[in-house]
Amino acid sequence: MFDRQGQRKTDINNVRYLKTEKEKAIMSDSKLKKEIETRRTFAIISHPDAGKTTLTEKFLLYGGAINLAGSVKGKATARHAVSDWMEIEKERGISVTSSVLQFNYGGFCINILDTPGHQDFSEDTYRTLMAADSAVMVIDAAKGVEPQTRKLFKVCAMRKIPIFTFINKLDRDARDPFELLDEIESELGIPTCPMNWPIGSGKGFRGVYDRDNEKIVIYSDTFKGTREGKAEEISLGDTDALKKTLGDAAYEKLMEDVELLDGAGSPFDREEVDGGVLSPVFFGSALTNFGVEIFLQNFLALTSPPLARKADTGIVDPVSDDFSAFVFKIQANMNKAHRDRIAFMRICSGKFTAGMEVLHVREDRVMRLSQPQQMMASERHIVEEAYAGDIIGVFDPGIFAIGDTVCSTNTRFEYEGIPTFAPEHFARVRQIDTMKRKQFVKGITQIAQEGAIQIFHELNTGLEEIIVGVVGMLQFEVLKYRLENEYNVEIRMDTLPYEHIRWIANRDIDIDHLTGTSDMKKVTDLKDRPLLLFINSWSIGMTLERNEGLVLEEFSRN
Ligand code: G4P
Repeated sequence: MFDRQGQRKTDINNVRYLKTEKEKAIMSDSKLKKEIETRRTFAIISHPDAGKTTLTEKFLLYGGAINLAGSVKGKATARHAVSDWMEIEKERGISVTSSVLQFNYGGFCINILDTPGHQDFSEDTYRTLMAADSAVMVIDAAKGVEPQTRKLFKVCAMRKIPIFTFINKLDRDARDPFELLDEIESELGIPTCPMNWPIGSGKGFRGVYDRDNEKIVIYSDTFKGTREGKAEEISLGDTDALKKTLGDAAYEKLMEDVELLDGAGSPFDREEVDGGVLSPVFFGSALTNFGVEIFLQNFLALTSPPLARKADTGIVDPVSDDFSAFVFKIQANMNKAHRDRIAFMRICSGKFTAGMEVLHVREDRVMRLSQPQQMMASERHIVEEAYAGDIIGVFDPGIFAIGDTVCSTNTRFEYEGIPTFAPEHFARVRQIDTMKRKQFVKGITQIAQEGAIQIFHELNTGLEEIIVGVVGMLQFEVLKYRLENEYNVEIRMDTLPYEHIRWIANRDIDIDHLTGTSDMKKVTDLKDRPLLLFINSWSIGMTLERNEGLVLEEFSRN
């Protein structure tokens, strides 16, 4: 009996012990799961001036991260002229500010990735999109789809991430909303599903019709810098109230539109949204804070938590005990006093804890990530812990390259590389002092390896000249400045008329025998891959026609 009891006691104790451990594991599992599943990591893409900064500001306002709109991140620096740029970089040192903002709203932990435009537009802008799980596309209602939107959209579409559209500035005279949707569909090739619908625009803007809830949300411009205000709402069925508020003409027009909308347009389909083949569209005015919170709420509810990512060992589940991340951006410090760089990593699985050891897979080296930092609202701070979906910046003494994977030391795998994107501006670059050839080649190659510029050599010419390609013109200035300041080499740059570059995807093609157009130039890149340069897009089509089976690509995947 005693024995039995004793035995039982031991059993119970064991069970208790097991249960406690199991409970602990489940608890930590569910904490990890909760942390990760409430994360939303997205980029806001737009053409300059469409309202990206204003919309971000309003998001932060709702998140309680800022009190007054207008105080958000480097807006002033986003507008600076080329000449100011070096000074600004020097003053601010390495800036995490412009890369990611984190804040909480409605139970979500939100990471907004900045996609620099204006003068800062560069290949980094594209690379940043590799770290996002979804995108918000802001379109100016008076302008429609603009060039930079088109470029950024293409990269998002390549990754098949969900893309939500916010048509902004309805408080100003806007184009016909049907026409805007047609333009998105025809120019970007993505069907749209309007979630709400504007009633008038500019001085005649009366509000939006919320299709799902069949109600009209009445426009008011009094909520600009606040988050307290709640717009008046009227049900679609309440004809009298609607006519009174909107006026007869606006009411009739709304009824016509509602009928048209139900007949035309794509129906909402969650799977299609998740697969990036249908874009939900919202209308509003970021400046007056109208339609922003509704958009944010819908977007957060409909967009996905951190996505599983492809590695060489298969798909990696974000909710995993093992930490992993990849480097998507490296920012060199323009300040001579701080020669170090900062590497931005997107955490793809598990949890990061300060001081933990990680494996740098390409270098096959166990290391600690030095001074990991994150942006919380507008303050930079050292990260104690971070989860899949988060972005951290770490000091890089020169060991990281774009696309590198770091992971828990008990695992070993590498994420798919980051594509190289086609530059759009080209220049022939040479050193002024011929004696400095060695430093010149070393400097320009290192800067290219960091991913700030791309360099090409002409094929079969024996010329030693280097062709530099950049996505944004400012990178030419960065190159010149860095070669002079870091490598003590002065250069001469002659811009070239090329605007398009294509990688040749066929491995078996005989480059020497390719028949192109007279403006075509054959070059190789840093990895010796063959490419073609063209002055106009017409030549690309001609070259494809003249060389059967030739496959040209706008980005290179390895
Ligand atoms: P960006 O980041 O996409 O480049 O655009 P940003 O938010 O800086 O907005 C560009 C301009 O458009 C700003 O005006 C901004 O106030 C205005 N804007 C943004 N959203 C709306 C909107 O919904 N309605 C109206 N009417 N204007 C909007 P600015 O005069 O260039 O700058 P600021 O002096 O207002 O700072």
